[in-house]
Amino acid sequence: MRVFLAGATGAIGRPLVDRLLADGHEVVGTTRDPARADALRAKGAEAVVVDAFDAAAVHAAVAAARPEVVVHQLTALPQDPTPKAMAAAVAVNARLRRETVPTLVDAARAAGARRVIAQSISFVTKPDGRPVHDEDAPLWLDEPSQRTNVEGVRVLEAAVRDASDVEGVAMRYGFFYGPGTWYAPDGALGTMIRKRRYPIVGSGEGRSSFVHVDDAVDATVRALDGAFPSGTYNVTNDEPAPARDWIPAAASAMGAKAPRHAPVWLARRLAGPVVVHYATTLPGNRDARFRAAAPGWSPRAWRDGFAEVFA
Ligand SMILES: NC(=O)c1ccc[n+]([C@@H]2O[C@H](COP(=O)([O-])OP(=O)(O)OC[C@H]3O[C@@H](n4cnc5c(N)ncnc54)[C@H](OP(=O)(O)O)[C@@H]3O)[C@@H](O)[C@H]2O)c1
Repeated sequence: MRVFLAGATGAIGRPLVDRLLADGHEVVGTTRDPARADALRAKGAEAVVVDAFDAAAVHAAVAAARPEVVVHQLTALPQDPTPKAMAAAVAVNARLRRETVPTLVDAARAAGARRVIAQSISFVTKPDGRPVHDEDAPLWLDEPSQRTNVEGVRVLEAAVRDASDVEGVAMRYGFFYGPGTWYAPDGALGTMIRKRRYPIVGSGEGRSSFVHVDDAVDATVRALDGAFPSGTYNVTNDEPAPARDWIPAAASAMGAKAPRHAPVWLARRLAGPVVVHYATTLPGNRDARFRAAAPGWSPRAWRDGFAEVFA
C-alpha cells in the first residue's frame, strides 16, 4: 500500500519507514531537512521536504503522493528534555498537534485516502487515585501546568475522531523507550540515570506506561489494515511501571549505582510540577482495547524490554 508518513525522521518515524519498506509498502516520507530527505531516498522511500505548518504545501504533497493511508508522526521535542527545554518545546509541540493534524486529515480526505493514523500520548489523564486508566478516563485539562500539552492532545484526537469520509485512528503511545529515544543508554534520561542524576521523587508512586519503539512501530503497522477499527487506542503494555521500580531497574541493567531519593518539594523547585506529577501521581494506562483490535500484538513487558535496551 502507499503510505504518506508525516514525520519520517523522528524517533518512531525512522524505524517505521524501515518496517514499512521491509513489508513491501511504498512510503512517501516528510522532513524539513534536504539531507534527511536524501537519507530517506537512500533507504528506498520517496521523500518530500515540507514544513508541516505550511498547509498548502502539505495539501500539495499528499495529493501528489496519492496515499491509501496518511500517518502522522510529528512532534517537536528536544533530544535532552531538561525542564527549560521542555518548557520551550511544549508550546510548539502542542501547536503541531492542534494545527497539523486537522490539515493532514483534510489533505487525506481531499486526496481520497482511506485512513489517517495520528500519534497521540497516553500519559494525559486526570489522576483520581486509580493506578491504571483506560481511554475513557477524562483528560487532565483543568491543571494549569498540563493545559497546553493536553489541549493539543484533545484537538488532535477530536480531528481524527470526527473526520468524515476518512477513517481515523489515534494512537496514544506510552513513553517510548529503546534506540533513538530518551530511555536508552545513550539517551538523555538513560545518561542521567547512569550518572545518578535521576532520583526517585517522594515515594515514587507515579506509574509510567512504557512502550518499546519497535512495539509501537508494530502496532502502527497493524493499524494500517482496513479491518482494524477506527478509534482512540492506548498503545502501551499491560504493566505500568512505578518510578520506584523502573528507575532502579534501568540503573541496574546499566551496571550503575542505585538511584538517589529526592523530596517532592525539592523536585518541584528544580524540575517543576509536570516532572513531580510523572514521578508521584501519574496513572498508568491499560491497552486492552488495542490488544482486542489487533490480536497477536505482543509488546515486550517493560522489565524484559529494559533488560534488553539498558544492558
Ligand atoms: N510517546 C513518547 O514517549 C514520545 C513521542 C515522541 C517523541 N518522544 C521523545 O522525544 C525525543 C525527540 O523526538 P524525535 O527524535 O522524534 O524528534 P522531533 O524533533 O520531535 O521530530 C519528530 C518528527 O517530526 C518532524 N517535525 C517536527 N516539526 C516539524 C515541522 N514543523 N514540519 C515538518 N516536520 C516536523 C521531524 O522532522 P524533521 O526534523 O526531519 O523536519 C521528525 O520527523 C525522542 O528522544 C523521543 O524519545 C517521545
